[in-house]
Amino acid sequence: MKNSVRSFVRPRTRLSKAKKKLISHASSQKFCLSENFENFKQHSPYKKNILEIGFGDGENLISNALNGLDSFHVGIEVYEAGVAKVLELTKKNNLENIFIIQGDAKAILEKNTTTKFFDEVIIFFPDPWPKRRHKKRRLLSNNFLNSLKMVLKDKSILRIKTDWDDYAQEIENDLNQIFSNIKKHINKKTDLFTKYEISAIEEKRNIIYFEAY
Ligand SMILES: C[S@@+](CC[C@H](N)C(=O)[O-])C[C@H]1O[C@@H](n2cnc3c(N)ncnc32)[C@H](O)[C@@H]1O
Repeated sequence: MKNSVRSFVRPRTRLSKAKKKLISHASSQKFCLSENFENFKQHSPYKKNILEIGFGDGENLISNALNGLDSFHVGIEVYEAGVAKVLELTKKNNLENIFIIQGDAKAILEKNTTTKFFDEVIIFFPDPWPKRRHKKRRLLSNNFLNSLKMVLKDKSILRIKTDWDDYAQEIENDLNQIFSNIKKHINKKTDLFTKYEISAIEEKRNIIYFEAY
């Protein structure tokens, strides 16, 4: 991973002491750093497992965990403030079915040794890196999508949303090479809006939603 191009930049804002404490005091049943991660299976006692990558402020992750108590919800995020927020909401709602891994999803998937584990993988609004010279930073490469296919159980579903047309085209091309069935929706009605979905709507960009299995 040393020479790999990062799909994220470290935020400049500092975390408050209270938020830092939420992370440093988090139970090992709820949280781990990517350095300490080995494989997904060791953290979940559930039959149904859902992974969300780049959950941001965690609106979708928390809502899924609250509405899907019979399943285990794993979230991966590099952004410390998002991790702290989700840990806070997990505590507040007494959620037992969430596990957060803080770090780079690419490194985490490379380390993972469990295959055919998730019933669903969700990636909503991956950073679009719109400048031509930055495109190599995009998270959803052919390699990365292949690693997601490996952790999905047979016929399980990958959900991706983006509001960036040329990224959507790249993703669609790669999905067509890797998955047998792809559904593409434009501006599909949804019950929950993440922070980035709201910005896309306000800025009148189309939301392209892929379901691949
Ligand atoms: C544009 S935001 C979208 C957040 C959220 N999904 C939403 O819809 O509001 C992209 C998120 O992906 C995270 N991210 C980017 N690259 C990542 C990586 N390699 N591993 C884990 N998270 C990553 C960023 O920190 C950021 O929170």
